[in-house]
Amino acid sequence: MQIQLTNSTAAFDKAAATCVLESLKTKPDSVIALPTGRTPLGLYKYLVESPRIKAITREAFFFNLDDYVGVSENNPQSFAAFVKRHFLNPACVQPAKMRLLRADAPDLAAEAIAYDEAIADHHGIDLAILGLGANGHIAFNEPGAKWDKGTHITTLTSQTRQANAAYVLDGTAVPAHGITMGIKTIREARQVLLLVQGIAKRQALRVFLDGKPDPAWPVTSLCEHPNLTVVAEETLVA
Ligand code: PGA
Repeated sequence: MQIQLTNSTAAFDKAAATCVLESLKTKPDSVIALPTGRTPLGLYKYLVESPRIKAITREAFFFNLDDYVGVSENNPQSFAAFVKRHFLNPACVQPAKMRLLRADAPDLAAEAIAYDEAIADHHGIDLAILGLGANGHIAFNEPGAKWDKGTHITTLTSQTRQANAAYVLDGTAVPAHGITMGIKTIREARQVLLLVQGIAKRQALRVFLDGKPDPAWPVTSLCEHPNLTVVAEETLVA
């Protein structure tokens, strides 16, 4: 594991973006999984302001990690709309180069299977970019989530719903369920970039850095990942 501790927001965003840009340089047709949340906003801004970003991302393919069940891509509060607004659209990624979860699909079990098939058709994820929940979640894999699952429906914890109510849905009730890429798929990513920002993440980061796999802390499913970069605020490990 490589861990980069940063002492400013600018350094955090730059470290995260450098990792993504290096991956794209090594493999221009990288398959990348994108997160939603406050943490990746600076990364996305840094990337879309990078010179030649359209050329850099032209061959890449993008999936997103998760979304709220029942919320359509056309709803600005969906996670699909979020990744489009903050990254895919300003980077001019073509619709043919993205497959986002259809959280309003009438048959969500079929959508989960189709999503896993799409990921398999692209030979899996090259780079999974992840935020971290205060409760240790990655994507919407909440504490106790099975580590052998692909895409599935999940019940959101009240902690996650509260955290997201503060800024994602502007006070609107947060849906009770999510659809999420599973830990199996995330662990199979050839590279993982874990972004840890915010004081609420201190305990989850500590548990992770202790290095003991524990289903109560989904992020520990990555402890033994062979190609993992962590970018974290240095105050979290002080
Ligand atoms: P945040 O969320 O980036 O808004 O802190 C991270 C997460 O819950 O995965």
